[in-house]
Amino acid sequence: MTRRGQFITLEGTEGVGKSTNLAVIAETIGRRGFEVVRTREPGGTPLAEKLRELLLAKHREPIAPTTEVLLMFAARAQHLAEVIRPALARGAWVVCDRFTDATFAYQGGGRGFDTNVIEQLAKIVHGDFDPDLTIYLDIPVDVGLARIAPNERDRFESEHREFFERVRQTYLERASRLPRIRRIDGSGDIAAVQGRVRSAVEAYMVSVVG
Ligand SMILES: Nc1ncnc2c1ncn2[C@@H]1O[C@H](COP(=O)(O)OP(=O)(O)OP(=O)(O)O)[C@@H](O)[C@H]1O
Ligand SMILES: [Mg+2]
Repeated sequence: MTRRGQFITLEGTEGVGKSTNLAVIAETIGRRGFEVVRTREPGGTPLAEKLRELLLAKHREPIAPTTEVLLMFAARAQHLAEVIRPALARGAWVVCDRFTDATFAYQGGGRGFDTNVIEQLAKIVHGDFDPDLTIYLDIPVDVGLARIAPNERDRFESEHREFFERVRQTYLERASRLPRIRRIDGSGDIAAVQGRVRSAVEAYMVSVVG
């Protein structure tokens, strides 16, 4: 029987270095001989990527908070069915840029959407299934925002500073409460952060496969 692959997610506020470090995680796992599937949320399938476009674009019509949350979970349900679950079942390790922790952080913490409703939707969409390991990259909000060009900001990146402060506090609170979430300092130069991420993933792999 094939051992089920591990589901690793990467979280953090804008510009913290998620995309930059996703490659490091994939490389670290691949070096141990496992198939790695790199993916992202919202998105990861053609249909879910269309939902991502809708979510990130700036619309003249305001998106109701409930609509935003449901679109996030709709994309997630599709991603789980088409990519994440099949990959894990065949023994691949899945490395995903953002998952449900981001919904708690952005829609819950950032927008103040009812966390109990997010809990209920998470139960409906993925039951007791959660990431095996979550790397949460943490930096002060201003440091992250300074890494993103102002004219390239999407609907979320255009939010105000206090919004991201609430997002960060939610991530920190979850990281302190949930053992699967490892907080990693995202400040300092790229090589230093990549070194921290690599060590965390190597240690995790030793704990799982020896
Ligand atoms: N440790 C670092 N120090 C300085 N710059 C960095 C560091 N890590 C990443 N960057 C740069 O900051 C920018 C944002 O990084 P990246 O795209 O990896 O962040 P992200 O978390 O994926 O952002 P987003 O939330 O927008 O997807 C990139 O230009 C990247 O090269
Ligand atoms: Mg990114």
